[in-house]
Amino acid sequence: MNESQIPPKNIVLIGFMGSGKSTVGRELHHRLGYPLVDMDQVIEMRTRKSIRTIFEKMGEEAFREMETTLLKELIDPTVPRRIISTGGGVIGREQNRIMLRQLGYVVWLNAPLKVLLDRTAKNLDRPLLHVDDPASRIEALMTVRKPLYAETAHLKIDTAELDSDEIATGILESARYFFAGHL
Ligand code: S3P
Repeated sequence: MNESQIPPKNIVLIGFMGSGKSTVGRELHHRLGYPLVDMDQVIEMRTRKSIRTIFEKMGEEAFREMETTLLKELIDPTVPRRIISTGGGVIGREQNRIMLRQLGYVVWLNAPLKVLLDRTAKNLDRPLLHVDDPASRIEALMTVRKPLYAETAHLKIDTAELDSDEIATGILESARYFFAGHL
């Protein structure tokens, strides 16, 4: 069997802004030693612009296009084991949802509104929440996105009461089961 025939064993983190994807992604990266791909960071590095500037100067659609392009690259199976941390809106496009599941084990990190609000309040690099009433915006986005996260994920974890260490342990146990023992 050559490299391109090995089914990908990536672990993919999805979930709303502030749900802890980047932190948990780093934890999984340290534990497994798999390369970490933080999609927002890759897009920022490639464009040499912050997410905020991309949204302001190029518009959200241009950013969504970059996400889809990056997912297509990640589907390339030459590196079949990665930890992939996504942006919260990546599940908006159907083609993205399909690619996310093709990439491997998809974990949805979920948290209640209050937690998301606290964690995102001070961060200026989340243009979608730069509004007068971020709580209502989060609620509105969550109403649309929850079914999409649910449809895409193999596993949902409610993170509010857990630290990143506990979350990573849970993910690794269930990922081993999903990949039939071979991570
Ligand atoms: C977005 C989430 C952000 C980033 C962009 C759009 C979204 O990523 O991709 O601001 O639509 O929810 P994080 O979820 O890592 O904050």
